[in-house]
Amino acid sequence: MKDRFDYQISTTIPAARDHYVDAVDRLLGGRGEIVETFEASVTADPGFALGFVGLARGHQFNGDMAAAKSAMNNAHTVAKNLDAREQSHVNAFGLLIDGKGAEAYAAIRTHVDEYPRDALVAQTCSSVFGLIGFSGQPGREAEILAYTAALFPHYGEDWWCLSQYAFALCENGNLAKASAIIDKSLELNPLNANGAHVRSHIYYETGETDLGIRYLVDWLKSYDRTGYLHGHLSWHAALWSLEQGDVEKMWHRIDTDIKPSVAQGPQIIVLTDTASIYYRAELAGVTIPKERWIEISNYAARFFTIPSIGFTDIHAALAHAMAGNYDAAAKFVNSPNSLTGDLVAPVARAFCAISRGRWHDAANLLVSAMADHARLGGSRAQRDLLEFSLLGTLLKLGKDEEAKRILLLRRPALAATHSLHGLNAHLKENAKQNASLV
Ligand SMILES: [Fe+2]
Repeated sequence: MKDRFDYQISTTIPAARDHYVDAVDRLLGGRGEIVETFEASVTADPGFALGFVGLARGHQFNGDMAAAKSAMNNAHTVAKNLDAREQSHVNAFGLLIDGKGAEAYAAIRTHVDEYPRDALVAQTCSSVFGLIGFSGQPGREAEILAYTAALFPHYGEDWWCLSQYAFALCENGNLAKASAIIDKSLELNPLNANGAHVRSHIYYETGETDLGIRYLVDWLKSYDRTGYLHGHLSWHAALWSLEQGDVEKMWHRIDTDIKPSVAQGPQIIVLTDTASIYYRAELAGVTIPKERWIEISNYAARFFTIPSIGFTDIHAALAHAMAGNYDAAAKFVNSPNSLTGDLVAPVARAFCAISRGRWHDAANLLVSAMADHARLGGSRAQRDLLEFSLLGTLLKLGKDEEAKRILLLRRPALAATHSLHGLNAHLKENAKQNASLV
């Protein structure tokens, strides 16, 4: 039997194959019931190694590492007489689930060179939250583009590969090409949450706030709340409501879909998106009650105790700093992660300085992280947290003109939004002056 990508799979039971193909597509498309569908596959064939690997990956997406390890053990146990591709697939995911990141990355790149259409393996490196995205290396955005561009000829018109290539193009600034490709991807599979996500990022990058929120709110209506992108797409919608100045809608979205007590997605998304929308809201002039910061600080302390991924670390540090939990924030300075600790430390100190109202210190610390904050991981839209935090400190210091210039220099498409309290009047004045010069 074969999977959807034409690779041989070692089950002889049609139901096991059918559930497997469905489950892989659910994972690639960010849809709900990933774990349940892989479970149905291995229930139909308890000797199907790749079914257990997929189950392990599904649990990993949910942050349930105990269940992921247990499923991976089952995969190893039944991995007998596999062909070279399946054996390599099991080995690569075995390393990944064991937390051996560097060895897993090497095994995955070798595997993908040999079997580029093994989408479940290829997926581990294709997005801003993947192994390249979180590598901490300079140039990782270009590397994801090179990686997805190299996959593209092997897949042709495949909705998943198109969506990953489009995201990389978007993050590298090729918005026209990204837009054409994501439209094709969504035409092939309108239910792909990764496709809707990339479409939303393109609207964000082009400053199409009204168009973006209309599109996304409509798309979200039919999206399963258990899909791993539900909380994050809701973050995009909340951010757009904020940029439109519709604070009531932003709160509704946070309290329905984003904050820890309501979100059902992966913990990394719950932490980073909640902390992010709170501070983006503060920058836009909204007061965030201290209890909300304490709630997200406690969540970070529960699930992200050890500094590890730069992107997670800076959001945990933000939550702790704004909750007044400075000892917890200091951990990211005193025990920095090995890949991006040099960037996390000044950002964590900056958030503590912001929380204490030391705006001058905060501005200097944030400036030191601006040159290449892409190393931290995450998307450009997410890292606007840092861009706008710096602008916020400059406004507090009365350096409005400097803030305005930096915004127009680095994120001009967002200049017309309500992202920064106090800067809108200046930007309108700027536009008027430019018009009179003409
Ligand atoms: Fe996003």
